[in-house]
Amino acid sequence: MELVSFIVNDKKVELAVERNWTLLKVLREKLDLTGAKPGCEAGDCGACKVLLDGKAVNSCTTNIMKVQDRTVTTVEGLSKGTELHPIQSAFIEAGAVQCGYCTPGMVITAKSLLDQNPHPTEQEIRDGLDNNLCRCTGYVKIVEAIQLATKKLEES
Ligand code: FES
Ligand code: FES
Repeated sequence: MELVSFIVNDKKVELAVERNWTLLKVLREKLDLTGAKPGCEAGDCGACKVLLDGKAVNSCTTNIMKVQDRTVTTVEGLSKGTELHPIQSAFIEAGAVQCGYCTPGMVITAKSLLDQNPHPTEQEIRDGLDNNLCRCTGYVKIVEAIQLATKKLEES
């Protein structure tokens, strides 16, 4: 086992890990942060996305040793107590959630996208969702949710 320390959702953590563990495994099994979902576990579906130093990454293909001294934000870290982040409430208001399995990853990707480009076109939103798969919604409501989130973020 090796010690690794990093910041997750504004809290410093230090853990004993095996060198081959993924960030997804550590979040879910050692830190009880189960918002990031195991889907393909091969970097293809985006269900496991988290922010690493502010950029969306697949936590299933991120080796835990690469996270040393870095900052991780999971979907749990976006809300403030019981107050949802504007992107999270936009997904609910737009009806962009069906089974919900892809939703945490979609919200994280949307956060990363809107941080870099606060006023994306519809095509830029669709391009930004290229690595996030949804089997339920057909993406229309998800795109609408991100468009609604841009308005909410402007007003907040
Ligand atoms: S579970 Fe990580 S990309 Fe699919
Ligand atoms: S809402 Fe079911 S996979 Fe996207």
